[in-house]
Amino acid sequence: MSKLFTPIDIRGETIRNRVFVSPMCQYSAEEKDGHPVSWHMVHLGSRAVGGAGLVMFEATSVTPEGRITPWDLGIWSDSHIDSYRPISEFITSHGATPAMQLAHAGRKASHDRPWSSSRPLGDDEGGWQVVGPSPLPFNTNEPTPRELTIEEIHQIRDAFGSAAERAVKAGIKVIELHLAHGYLGFEFLSPLSNQRTDMYGGSFDNRTRFPLEIVDAVRSSIPDSMPLFVRISSTEYMDEGWGIEDSVLFATQLKEHGVDLIDCSSGGNSPAQQVKPFPGYQVPFAAQIRSGANVLTGAVGLITDPHQSEEILLEEQADVILMGRELLRNPYWPLSAQQTLESEPTWANQYLRAAPPKPA
Ligand SMILES: Cc1cc2nc3c(=O)[nH]c(=O)nc-3n(C[C@H](O)[C@H](O)[C@H](O)COP(=O)(O)O)c2cc1C
Repeated sequence: MSKLFTPIDIRGETIRNRVFVSPMCQYSAEEKDGHPVSWHMVHLGSRAVGGAGLVMFEATSVTPEGRITPWDLGIWSDSHIDSYRPISEFITSHGATPAMQLAHAGRKASHDRPWSSSRPLGDDEGGWQVVGPSPLPFNTNEPTPRELTIEEIHQIRDAFGSAAERAVKAGIKVIELHLAHGYLGFEFLSPLSNQRTDMYGGSFDNRTRFPLEIVDAVRSSIPDSMPLFVRISSTEYMDEGWGIEDSVLFATQLKEHGVDLIDCSSGGNSPAQQVKPFPGYQVPFAAQIRSGANVLTGAVGLITDPHQSEEILLEEQADVILMGRELLRNPYWPLSAQQTLESEPTWANQYLRAAPPKPA
């Protein structure tokens, strides 16, 4: 039995294997109201049938203003609950664990879809005023965010809590908080994007305050038995910015606040970042956070090979593998990886006649 296909217990949840579908925006809520549609059922359902252990809904916004594009998923109202439930149920019925990444895009909100123009949307195109910790744009082509008031910070914190409650009602079994990639949570963590002078800016403790308040709001809104993950940018690749040592310290705090797993990504907060990605380039971050904060970690980033995945786990660099684009190319990757690693694949009954014969 490979480690990749050994189930993992996190709090009250047993996840059938350690291949997790990384959250990936589909920009396909066609009514622009945050509701998932048949695309999401087919997309996420296929990956459950394909054998992944955990299938995560993309960055799902906790407020309408927190969407990257008007086509993002959202869970800011009770009307959303029933549209997620059939998808969660389908994922569960195929043996995978349905998860949801809760997000707020901060200063990177209000954009067109990547396959259209990707640019910021004007007021006349359905765009809206973006917000952030400080009035600092991502770059000179991007709008300047309006600095959030303390009251608004509290409202967004509470919106994360209410969104998590709705996700539980929608049959979601694991919540991940998106505190990475230069979206709102990370904008507060980074001294480059957060130049506030109140209790939410300045020192490390002040910059981590809002993200930790989000964690507390969510942890107290979901059952004790429910796993809570956090995705961070382990470094933003900038001299004066957030770095790996900050991440280790923050991960220690996250663990104390009831977070079970740190999903270790990187970058996305500065257009000046210099990084040359290669297969597994973020694995050292997962390893350092795992040993430094004594917490479960997820490795992600250009991992496509079953043997490399297995090695990462055997060398205790991470506890799970999150995969993005490879699972877009091939939703059945887990089944074939299982075959390669000589574990017993779990084909859906409907597809059993397509399963390769067992070696003699
Ligand atoms: C189409 C697409 C959408 C993405 N959307 C999200 C998202 O919603 N939340 C997030 O944290 N990362 C997002 N990412 C990043 C992926 O989750 C993943 O971290 C990244 O693609 C690296 O992994 P990979 O090399 O296996 O694809 C997205 C990536 C892609 C390709």
